[in-house]
Amino acid sequence: MSQFLRINKKIKSFNKRISIEGDKSLSIRWALLASQAIGKSRAYKILKSEDVLSTINCLKKLGVKAKFKNNYCEIIGKGLNSYNYKNNLILNAGNSGTLGRLILGLLVHSKKKIKIIGDKSLSKRDFSRISKPLEKFGAKFYSNKKNKLPLSIMGPEKTVPINYIENKGSAQCKSSVMLAALNTKGTTFIKAKKSRNHTELLFQYLKVPIKIKKTKKFDYIKIKGIKKIQSFNYTIPADISSSSFFIVLTALSENSRLLIKNVNINPTRTGIIKILKSMGVKILIKNKKNYKGEKIADIFVKSSKNIKAINCPPSLNSSSIDEFLIIFLVAARAKGISYFKELSELNQKESPRLSWGSKILNMMGVKTKLTNHSIKIYGDPKLKLTKPIKIKNYLKDHRIFMMSTVAALTFGGEWKIYNLDSIKSSFPTFLKIIKDLNGKKKI
Ligand code: S3P
Repeated sequence: MSQFLRINKKIKSFNKRISIEGDKSLSIRWALLASQAIGKSRAYKILKSEDVLSTINCLKKLGVKAKFKNNYCEIIGKGLNSYNYKNNLILNAGNSGTLGRLILGLLVHSKKKIKIIGDKSLSKRDFSRISKPLEKFGAKFYSNKKNKLPLSIMGPEKTVPINYIENKGSAQCKSSVMLAALNTKGTTFIKAKKSRNHTELLFQYLKVPIKIKKTKKFDYIKIKGIKKIQSFNYTIPADISSSSFFIVLTALSENSRLLIKNVNINPTRTGIIKILKSMGVKILIKNKKNYKGEKIADIFVKSSKNIKAINCPPSLNSSSIDEFLIIFLVAARAKGISYFKELSELNQKESPRLSWGSKILNMMGVKTKLTNHSIKIYGDPKLKLTKPIKIKNYLKDHRIFMMSTVAALTFGGEWKIYNLDSIKSSFPTFLKIIKDLNGKKKI
């Protein structure tokens, strides 16, 4: 029986300062790149979640030395394409699409067959989006289930550089191809619809020959294959996607304030800030700093009344792709009808999030109009929940669990939310922070 969380009262007012765990995208990217560098790399404040642990476990199976110490993770790499492993190796990507897809980019050079498996949720997700471009490098894929995991990969004698158009706005696809290009002789050209650019920034920091031309919708990326990258230390900033649950928790609570320290505010991730600000949420960004190409700041947020509906511009979709569930809750509190469109990618996540978001709002008594790429949310500033709500069978999607918890703590009502364990994928301390907010201790 899965563990569940029962909530039947709203959170009390709070005025606190919190720290959120390290960014998941950066933690996974650091580990993959460190495994390809020569020498000892360390990551401080790395996220210790299941997705990152799966990454480290896969790297260990590939013969890489990696260990966790008190406040850092250490990886000793032997250089590009230096993995050492047996034939028919099986790597388990667990729940992580980022790991499953990015690691395939590095394995494009593998001379032995490697099988990638994942959990129930990951095994339902599309992998043809990544096997297709990687096949152009010369890799071969084998699978009984078309386009899905389990999937085996084997590299060619010699990979060749490619031209690739990424038009879904998927950073996983773009990054996987970039990782394959890193070690492929010649120049790979990528035309990519805007998406998070952590891999580009890390490549620039690591002095990989990369050129980027930006237009409004697309980035044109040129990468020249190289022979080695140096080991590097990195302090991972707090994850804005995890922070967003607390930003909304504060905005929708009464008489509350919250300061979140050292959050990654890379502009390709901060769509949520723009969306919430235009809905009337009181957010301030303070103490901006640069760190190895990334931007970091403290986020201050206050309870916000008079929330306005939004007709959300699709240009903000990719920079808030992991935050829509929590944004939908704000729309439920807004005066008027909010409209979010061109969001079919949301149904490609750990669960079909566009449908699940709508389902949860409906259970709360909020009217929605749903298509397979858009949602209209009929907000009600006075919404009161009248029926008990049970959240179950949602493929253990961590963000569904956290959205439901924030809904329960801000809209009230009686909630039973199953699969408490799901938070371990991205944000193991989520419930502890909520407990601390409820407590008297100043944190
Ligand atoms: C991620 C990219 C996004 C995002 C995921 C993390 C990454 O996925 O939803 O949580 O780290 O590259 P897509 O690339 O499928 O949009």
